[in-house]
Amino acid sequence: MAFIEWNQNFAVNVDQFDDHHRHLIDLLNKTHDQITRRLEKEKLGLVLVELIEYAKYHFRAEEVWMKNLDYPKLKQHCAEHHYFINRVQEMCEDYNSGNTALAQELLSFMKNWLSSHILGTDREYSRFIEAKP
Ligand SMILES: [Fe+2]
Repeated sequence: MAFIEWNQNFAVNVDQFDDHHRHLIDLLNKTHDQITRRLEKEKLGLVLVELIEYAKYHFRAEEVWMKNLDYPKLKQHCAEHHYFINRVQEMCEDYNSGNTALAQELLSFMKNWLSSHILGTDREYSRFIEAKP
């Protein structure tokens, strides 16, 4: 069973972002696989870099889209994105400097943050766009 699976509850009904979220979930599963199979630190580092870079790309796309729609909760939404990137980068640095026990904490953090962000914060823009005349 996958570490985290996309399901209909995650749908934000913006095709581009549903695709992005599926891809982020794939990358998170890939990271989880690597950690459970205890692959070398270098390989884990690569998959984490890919995840962080993709998350940045996706957040930027959402932010531009929300800005163009004058979305009223843009600022809070961006703050959540920043928090995720900073926290993951911090944890990666710690991990790379030898604190490998951090791996599980990093996985749980990413899984919990991603689920609650999509189900809560992202679905708010989904409702906003549905209500827009
Ligand atoms: Fe978001």
